Amino acid sequence: MEQPKRYLITAALPYANGQKHIGHLAGAYLPADIYVRYLKAQKRDVVFVCGSDEHGTAIPIQATKEGTTARAIIDKYHPLMEQNFKDLGIAFDVYHRTSDPLHHETAQEFFTKLNNNGDLEIKESEQYFDEEANSFLADRYIKGTCPNCSFDSAYGDQCERCGKSLSPDELINPVSTLSGKAPVKKSTKHWYLPLNRHEDFLRKWILEEHANDWRSNVLGQCKSWIDGGLQPRAVTRDLDWGVKVPAADAEGKVLYVWFDAPIGYISATKQWAINTGKDWKPYWEDKDTKLVHFIGKDNIVFHCIIFPVMLKLHGNILPDNVPSNEFMNLEGDKMSTSRNWKLDMQDYITDFINKENGGSQMADVLRYYLTQIAPETKDSEFMWKGFQDANNSELVSIFGNFVNRTFVLMHKLCNGKVPAFHQDIADELDQQTIAEIKNCANKVTALLEEYRFREALFEVINLARTGNQYMQKKEPWIVAKSLAENPDAQQSIDNCLHICLQLTANLAILIQPFLPFTAKKMCHMMKVVEKMLDWENAGSMKLLSVGYSLRAPELLFRKIEDSEIMEQIEKLNAVSLKKESEQSVVSSEAKEITIKPEIVFDDFAKIDLKVGTIVAAEKVEKADKLLKLQVDLGFETRTIVSGIAMHFKPEDIVGKQVTVVVNLAPRKMRGIESNGMILMAEDANGKLHFINPEEAINPGSGVS
Ligand code: 2FM
Ligand code: ZN
Repeated sequence: MEQPKRYLITAALPYANGQKHIGHLAGAYLPADIYVRYLKAQKRDVVFVCGSDEHGTAIPIQATKEGTTARAIIDKYHPLMEQNFKDLGIAFDVYHRTSDPLHHETAQEFFTKLNNNGDLEIKESEQYFDEEANSFLADRYIKGTCPNCSFDSAYGDQCERCGKSLSPDELINPVSTLSGKAPVKKSTKHWYLPLNRHEDFLRKWILEEHANDWRSNVLGQCKSWIDGGLQPRAVTRDLDWGVKVPAADAEGKVLYVWFDAPIGYISATKQWAINTGKDWKPYWEDKDTKLVHFIGKDNIVFHCIIFPVMLKLHGNILPDNVPSNEFMNLEGDKMSTSRNWKLDMQDYITDFINKENGGSQMADVLRYYLTQIAPETKDSEFMWKGFQDANNSELVSIFGNFVNRTFVLMHKLCNGKVPAFHQDIADELDQQTIAEIKNCANKVTALLEEYRFREALFEVINLARTGNQYMQKKEPWIVAKSLAENPDAQQSIDNCLHICLQLTANLAILIQPFLPFTAKKMCHMMKVVEKMLDWENAGSMKLLSVGYSLRAPELLFRKIEDSEIMEQIEKLNAVSLKKESEQSVVSSEAKEITIKPEIVFDDFAKIDLKVGTIVAAEKVEKADKLLKLQVDLGFETRTIVSGIAMHFKPEDIVGKQVTVVVNLAPRKMRGIESNGMILMAEDANGKLHFINPEEAINPGSGVS
């Protein structure tokens, strides 16, 4: 296939409304960075853009929370996020921000062109309005129950739990986040992007032309959007924070954040061009450019459907691919900012990189583990134990160990110099190992071209594994013992160390996109300039010249102790519990009596309630909130996991009677299947009480 002339790589612009966690890192930034580092090592013409998304309701809402202004919020989080990315080796060519005047101009020009060309529609419609706050309720100013997953705090534009993009009208029981009251409807005028006009184009472009090169999760989401029938999408909002709508009669209106944010990729490219004296236009207008958007799965519709329609109408190129990742969970639960169940980039940096025992080597360890468990095809799980194992059993024991042994033996048995390779005595194992180096370089290249980062990394580690096995079979330290009676044996030692050293140099090249700090350190040890890392050198056996003297080895990775891992797990549990109890105080203070919508008797009759007796109770390991109960229901004894550990000691509740929902579908919690739910009443102080009969009765008695 012919190579593109240039590449424009984007990573989703993160909202500048708070710390970003490792789920964000694994979703978009790390894979994008790996791909860009690979392209740059290939000496391709590539620009990697990102920046802060500083508009939308997320920013003023955070400002209210922190008791400050929207401007202060973006000025606080923009530099912080930029520094976090640097610390973790994410090397953007430009990290811009959408509050920049250059972006406002770019977004306004974009809107105006579409508006003037008749590509937008203007419509009056009824929108949610908060009478108490005298304000329309755009996006995150309205919350309600998600129609897709029943999460009760879904926003008016998106559900944070399942990632589904929503409109306020789809929310069940909508409530204003400004006053906590149910909103009313009021008429207002907005500009719409009539996606319905572009259905045929999208169907052909995505579902036919990209049927074989886009990821199936991306194609699946697009197909369901297109098959569901596309509707006109409002691209303006009644709000005072954002890019002003550049049209007559648009007072108090701004561009919808999802209209302006992706245009941020273009403004960022313009900023890069200003900084470097280059021309930005070919990157967005020339068909020879390969545009790739790296995103998380909650951004698919915006990057695959809405933005491409905007780009087409504006006369820009379309993305060649949108490699979107699924979600990464943490220790068995969804990562969540609101529940504080997450690991922020900043916290990792503070605990592992900025401490004396860490350094940038620890940035690479995180990059390694996140790539190894990248949610490329399905949701994945970050486990602290897995993180420790990936480091101790792979980076330390396989990769680091091979490089270290090679250097130690080369100093001991070859005078600290690259030994010669004696072709005439080369055996089959030597030839096989040389072939595997070449083969690995080809495989990694092919996988990276297809955005299969997990597998590519596996191949690199496998090459280090091959190196260890090769050395183990050759045993140069044993051969060295026979040197006194057989001086020719030195040639066999030379061949082994020569191959191991060339393999080490190849490892540096191939690991560089994934672990850039490590590759740099290896260059230092090999006394080579970083130019050696050029991808064209991968597979070569002539990377280190014979006779060249190399430095003493440095440890590439350190062991991670159990205590470090335990500390993190405890921190995670403690922070999340603290937040939960704070929230329960606030919510009990602010609680209003609310009644759920009316149901008919048949709805109620579906729920099977029975009295049960708790016959055993124990804590669930590593889950401070959960108790595992055995509940006697008369006809059987069931395991039920209940979130009551903060309220009851296991030994105090054995023998107590409880009311159980016995026909609830089983659910796994911390790996334990829970078969039912215990009903609890919560008093004004947030204390929980069992619902039980006045006097003990037979387990299994019905409740109605
Ligand atoms: O989901 C988010 O965090 C958005 N701020 C991503 C925007 S990506 C692009 F369009 F700018
Ligand atoms: Zn949902």
